[in-house]
Amino acid sequence: MPLNIIIGAQWGDEGKGRITDLLAAQADIVARYSGGDNAGHTVTIGEDVFKLHLIPSGIIHDTVACIIGNGVVVNPQVMLHEMDALAARGVNVSPACLQLSRQAHLITPAHIALDKAKEMQRGAEAIGTTLRGIGPAYTDKANRTGIRAELLADPEELADAIHAHVAAHNQVLTKIYGVEPLDAAVVAAAFAAYAQRLAPHLVDSGVVIDAALRDGRSVLAEGAQGTLLDIDHGTYPFVTSSAPTAGGALTGLGVGPKVVGDIVGVAKAFTTRVGSGPFPTELEGEMALRLRGTGANPWDEYGTTTGRPRRVGWLDLVILRHARRVNSLTALALTKLDILSDIPELKVCVGYELDGARLDHFPSDLPTLARCHPIYDTLPGWEGDIMDVREFTQLPANAQAYVNFISDQLGVPISIISVGPGREQTVLR
Ligand code: GDP
Ligand code: IMO
Ligand code: MG
Repeated sequence: MPLNIIIGAQWGDEGKGRITDLLAAQADIVARYSGGDNAGHTVTIGEDVFKLHLIPSGIIHDTVACIIGNGVVVNPQVMLHEMDALAARGVNVSPACLQLSRQAHLITPAHIALDKAKEMQRGAEAIGTTLRGIGPAYTDKANRTGIRAELLADPEELADAIHAHVAAHNQVLTKIYGVEPLDAAVVAAAFAAYAQRLAPHLVDSGVVIDAALRDGRSVLAEGAQGTLLDIDHGTYPFVTSSAPTAGGALTGLGVGPKVVGDIVGVAKAFTTRVGSGPFPTELEGEMALRLRGTGANPWDEYGTTTGRPRRVGWLDLVILRHARRVNSLTALALTKLDILSDIPELKVCVGYELDGARLDHFPSDLPTLARCHPIYDTLPGWEGDIMDVREFTQLPANAQAYVNFISDQLGVPISIISVGPGREQTVLR
């Protein structure tokens, strides 16, 4: 059986958690491969809403084993907190159901302090990170000074590593950023306690996944963030510090490209972004308020991790073409189509105008992107609540036309459409 991959096709928060939960019903293993607790994935089952940051969204299925892969950066405190919250709701988070790669890197309080200090120093140029220590943890990984989860099984080595790590980062925190140093003994004591609980969850994730695939079992890779937040293919430097794209799934899990089956890009029926950086189709004013919502509904556009209002705009097909290319998408899952009901006319960006010429691909540098202006097609809207629709042909004709327009423009089939946050609020094609 193949490795199927779920990818965010925009700037994150496309609904990857709910699509993962849906497709996990056919999977034996669900694995996260990039990012950390900067992610916030929402799964809604009836009245139950689960907001997952580190633990894969397959965890709610009791037949699925979940793996946090080597490409993830893990704050052990957050992981344990999330495990306890899930266990209190009756979800099985035993080592048989939840495994952590020995090669994943740990996020420490020093990484979080550095993330905050760096953002403060950037001032008006701040990236708007989630302040979860993600960038500094990946910096240590690339710098070959990180602490890997494997040390959770070796208390003495872990204590030594934490003392050296805090001492080194305290130099930077105090001398460069002028902030208070951390107490290495306090951090080491906390990590010793995390280690006791997490050590039984450690595995060689690549070996486990390879064995499962050879055994004919099906593995679902759950992306975090989105293509436009990729450190190489996103709007650098306003990106995260990992590879949320399809390539990242391979390096982040330890398998090669031949095992890949479907690559499903998740895209919202409009566009959102949280944090700073360019956003060509961004809206302001009344339509922005309409798309964002007031916060009265749980699905309104306020960050799952940080609660920040998300920036909103029209659907951008230049971005989705970019996501198709970077990820070799085989299908698209289109979410939040219900939000577009009762808007008389819908604009869709079909290309950019750059210095009087038409550009169909996403430019790789920000100065060029800043000179691009969206070219819009206007499509007629539809009326009425579609949240109870379950068959494509039952959607209003203009909603069907909106979906078909997107798949025709991209040359990618839209195989899943979601019309509400609930597991069953799905139209399959
Ligand atoms: P993720 O980070 O990609 O998993 O997405 P988030 O969970 O951060 O944000 C998606 C939000 O939209 C969550 O509140 C979901 O419950 C909600 N959602 C997902 N799909 C739909 C949909 O089709 N319609 C509506 N109204 N809400 C949805
Ligand atoms: P999910 O998985 C939306 C954004 C941050 C910021 C930039 C860098 O829920 O889609 P970081 O803390 O990673 O260094 O922040 O990336 N960002 C996300 N935006 N959804 C996410 O995850 C995000 N994870 C990071 O807002 O702009
Ligand atoms: Mg999210």
